[in-house]
Amino acid sequence: MAVQRKRPEELRSHRWYGVHDLRSFGHRSRTLQMGFAREDFAGKPVIGIINTWSDINPCHYHFKQRVEEVKRGVWQAGGFPLELPAITLAEPFQKPTTMMYRNLLAMDAEELLRSYPVDGAVLMGGCDKTTPALIMGATSANLPAIFLPAGPMLRGNWHGEFLGSGTDSWKYWAELRAGTISERDWKEVEEGIARSPGHCMVMGTASTMTSVAETLGLTLPGAASIPAADANHGRMAAASGRRIVDMVWEDIKPRDLLTAAAFDNAIVTIHALSGSTNALIHLIAMAGRAGIALRLERFDELSRTTPVLANIRPAGVHLMEDFYYAGGLRALLAQVADALALDCRTVNGCTLGENIAGARIYKPDVIRTRAAALSPSGGLAVLRGNLAPDGAVIKPTAAEPRLLRHIGPAVVFRNYDDMASRIDDEALAIDESSVVVLQNAGPLGAGMPEWGQLPIPKKLLRKGVRDMVRISDARMSGTSYGACVLHVAPESYVGGALAFVRDGDLVELDVAARRLELHVSGAELARRRASWQSPAPRFQRGFGALYARHVTQADKGCDFDFLEGVAPTPEPDIH
Ligand code: FES
Repeated sequence: MAVQRKRPEELRSHRWYGVHDLRSFGHRSRTLQMGFAREDFAGKPVIGIINTWSDINPCHYHFKQRVEEVKRGVWQAGGFPLELPAITLAEPFQKPTTMMYRNLLAMDAEELLRSYPVDGAVLMGGCDKTTPALIMGATSANLPAIFLPAGPMLRGNWHGEFLGSGTDSWKYWAELRAGTISERDWKEVEEGIARSPGHCMVMGTASTMTSVAETLGLTLPGAASIPAADANHGRMAAASGRRIVDMVWEDIKPRDLLTAAAFDNAIVTIHALSGSTNALIHLIAMAGRAGIALRLERFDELSRTTPVLANIRPAGVHLMEDFYYAGGLRALLAQVADALALDCRTVNGCTLGENIAGARIYKPDVIRTRAAALSPSGGLAVLRGNLAPDGAVIKPTAAEPRLLRHIGPAVVFRNYDDMASRIDDEALAIDESSVVVLQNAGPLGAGMPEWGQLPIPKKLLRKGVRDMVRISDARMSGTSYGACVLHVAPESYVGGALAFVRDGDLVELDVAARRLELHVSGAELARRRASWQSPAPRFQRGFGALYARHVTQADKGCDFDFLEGVAPTPEPDIH
């Protein structure tokens, strides 16, 4: 079937460039001012390239070069590329957490696309929150858009061993605290763990979300798995630039691709990868921008039927570079093709099924077949109970199995500072059966930072303890591991039950039964609630105040309430 193509007068940018009035004179003369010729832009799709490059973002450090490759592709295909810098969310540096700023980048992207003469967009991102933020913004703007994943960095290296970002930092930090490696060893790990541009190369939030973007149909096939330093990454950038021009003529928009079935495909992907717990929050928020109400239970339902096939840290042993050599995401998706809606459309005009057809596994230990799955099910589990009536999340594959059914006495910390000051106190009444509880680390309590892998006390580390049940309303880095119950909703800051846990209360975790219970009577909980005082607001002004007024709870995706849904925003007046 012939693809319907727009005429140049139907381009959105025609309103800026193509009409005969004083305003369009200004648009043309100011473009000519930059040294462009009329034939560079007249009648051509204007491609806004949203670039999240910054000197402070090591994951996007190659974007200065990549953006030139995108532009080359746009020129080749007859488009007019314009780079539009957007706020960078650099996971290691931005405090209190990039999570607070995900919605700010989403707004930045949406408004850049809406307010400028853009016909289509290339979204350049990869570091954790960047991927969902750009997709959320582009979905709300709903102009043709293609996502360009940053690509994972190369494997880390120390004494001939491969190092994974995040995952091995936690591991060797625990060893340093336990006294089994030296300060010199620790410095060498620091120098070897991140040695090329690109996002974290374990199956953390970045690798999970870029894979999600590909499964949703928002990248070219295979794009999410290419290491940032590989020459194929540059070629993929140029190909994305070429493709977006045709997407404009064909008018393929994000909401044409982001159907409920596409989000189910994304959830299957997350589970098969044993992806980051953060993906639940982001996917719910992204679906909300497409007008789809994604339930937490949908993650649990698909978790029970999806095998874990990616043998990547922290749940497995390999890294993203190995995943690429093993065949990448296409090979993994081909293994779960029977669980996917293969007729979902993608940016290249083909279906997901067409894009993964014939994909093969080249390293069977890295990408497993169903018959050799790491786990037959259960990448992520959604818990409920009186401690988390609106849900909580755990990644069972990253926890010591003995802890997946556990009852123990709570050791409670009021906030992060309280925990930091007391966790290593030799006099702290805690042993390996205890349940560590951190309060006030949720979306409103602290911006929902990645504190959820609560530290194990030094005195227990020295005894050889490496995992304990830990509960909080925080998130956890996708590179982390352990029996960490996260995203408890409602959060303690707004009076969720987590606020009322006291030292010595028995807490029950039963992952198989999907249960998280506080063994305290309803009457006693009601008494504690009656004497509880809500904390003072943390922000009086600025973005923090806007965030505090509008952010939703974890089970709703932590989007701003006024950005959810598909209510139309009028095109700008051009006067
Ligand atoms: Fe950017 Fe991990 S720090 S993805």
